[in-house]
Amino acid sequence: MKLSGAVCVVTGAASGIGRALAQALACDGGSVVVAADINADGAETAAAEIRSRLGSGGPQIVSAGIDIADEAAVVSLIENVEANLGPIELWCGNAGIACPGGVERPNEEWDQVWDVNLMAHVIASRHLVPRWEKRGSGHLLITASAAGLLTGLGTASYAVTKHAAVALAEWIAITHGDKGVRVSCLCPQGVRTPMTEADSQLGVAQVEALGLLEPEDVAALTLEALRNDQFLILPHPEVALYEQRRAGDRQRWLDGMRQMQRSLVKLSGP
Ligand SMILES: NC(=O)c1ccc[n+]([C@@H]2O[C@H](COP(=O)([O-])OP(=O)(O)OC[C@H]3O[C@@H](n4cnc5c(N)ncnc54)[C@H](O)[C@@H]3O)[C@@H](O)[C@H]2O)c1
Repeated sequence: MKLSGAVCVVTGAASGIGRALAQALACDGGSVVVAADINADGAETAAAEIRSRLGSGGPQIVSAGIDIADEAAVVSLIENVEANLGPIELWCGNAGIACPGGVERPNEEWDQVWDVNLMAHVIASRHLVPRWEKRGSGHLLITASAAGLLTGLGTASYAVTKHAAVALAEWIAITHGDKGVRVSCLCPQGVRTPMTEADSQLGVAQVEALGLLEPEDVAALTLEALRNDQFLILPHPEVALYEQRRAGDRQRWLDGMRQMQRSLVKLSGP
């Protein structure tokens, strides 16, 4: 896709990968950016930072406070952006949450993770894909995770919802690709953001052990992939090999993951 002048919405733009993506799209891609986040003040701070970096004469940068799992709010954001800034050409569904624990966690928590990590993408696509098909073009970026291709140790709801997000991205790419809808799926392993700095749960020990990337580097790679209409974006290229190993011999892969879990439990201590 052509980023220069394109109207792009980035969700989860107040922090981490979303913030870096919004900045890269505006400053390096020349895109018009809507920085959207449930943290409205954080989104405005991110937008203001971009505006001050760009100075006068740069593309328009605005912020929006929005719960991305609220369908009415998403519809209103899409309508507002299209009325005031122009047709949305790129939607970066990047907001995500992670909760530690497994099936013992309460349904309310599973629902919350499901709503943000999967249903937000379903909702956004429901209202964007028909517009994009009518126009013959549009690009959806879903920030999933390497946990959506492999697994996420210590966090069942994250692993499961990220697998679902990858499946949705593939399904939309197949079903709507012939009508000009492009999809990219960003699957990083570990990125230095508040999500990985949160606490010392097992999943965090896992990503730290595997090496953390800076959000700005992930954003730069993502811009390149978007320009090339590339589906799978793997900032940690070794994830492709892990995925092949998982598909090639599931039993051996499960044994290896158990071993990794045992060593990380020792690392994180009691
Ligand atoms: N950091 C990593 O190691 C890593 C690795 C793989 C994938 N990811 C994914 O990247 C994305 C960004 O994560 P991050 O590491 O930058 O995390 P982060 O916590 O720094 O940022 C997430 C942002 O999403 C916002 N958000 C949460 N719920 C929302 C909602 N309902 N509506 C709108 N905004 C909401 C938060 O306010 C926050 O600003 C997530 O989808 C995450 O799962 C992160």
